[in-house]
Amino acid sequence: MISLRHIRKRFRDGEREVEVLRDLDLDVARGGFTAVVGPSGSGKSTLLYVAGGLDADFEGDAVVAGSDLKSLSARERAAFRNGSVGFVFQSFNLLPALSAAENTLLPGLFVPRGAPAPSLGQLRGRALEALDRVGLADKAERLPGRLSGGERQRVAIARALLSRPAVLLADEPTGNLDAVSGEAVIQLFSAMVRDGVTVLVVTHEERVSEAAEQVLHLEGGRLR
Ligand SMILES: Nc1ncnc2c1ncn2[C@@H]1O[C@H](COP(=O)(O)OP(=O)(O)O)[C@@H](O)[C@H]1O
Ligand SMILES: [Mg+2]
Repeated sequence: MISLRHIRKRFRDGEREVEVLRDLDLDVARGGFTAVVGPSGSGKSTLLYVAGGLDADFEGDAVVAGSDLKSLSARERAAFRNGSVGFVFQSFNLLPALSAAENTLLPGLFVPRGAPAPSLGQLRGRALEALDRVGLADKAERLPGRLSGGERQRVAIARALLSRPAVLLADEPTGNLDAVSGEAVIQLFSAMVRDGVTVLVVTHEERVSEAAEQVLHLEGGRLR
């Protein structure tokens, strides 16, 4: 479901060039749960941005959810990001003036050009379904400010699931959570995996990797 081959990624830092990923290979099977663990600055976010089509400026081959990311046009890549993958970040990125349901349905408003636009009623229905999957059906009308940190992250996960993506990519998803809320989020990822979603989490926290089927360590720009 995720196949990265010979990935290289360099950043220019003034005169210096920093090679963050060096000849990195990664395979995640369909329905697999993989954790990539590494210290701060080791390139975890960079790896996730490549796999998620957020960063197309890399060397090597990346095939994710059936798309060869190198061969996509900018518009195709946008459609890939909107439909094939869901993103979860450390800082939940919810809009404070919108309810949990509105935050969840928001990405559904950005339809790739040429694709049929769902009605607001349809989107609402899908948002409530996604909130139900994360155990928040009863808090759909709450504003983020009236939710706990763990609940906010579960809204962010519901939002990531809105398009029913094959792949869920999470960047330090428990970084802002206490142990109990973090555990609930990890349990949720395991439940998604049981539903057939492919999950890739990058983290520096060992407790996340305990739930994963495959744990890889990012060191010197490569996985082992
Ligand atoms: N846009 C960028 N420009 C320059 N350097 C970057 C950029 N993004 C990341 N880096 C560098 O790449 C390295 C890896 O960053 P990152 O992938 O964010 O690591 P991690 O997520 O593991 O903390 C760091 O040294 C960082 O400074
Ligand atoms: Mg990071």
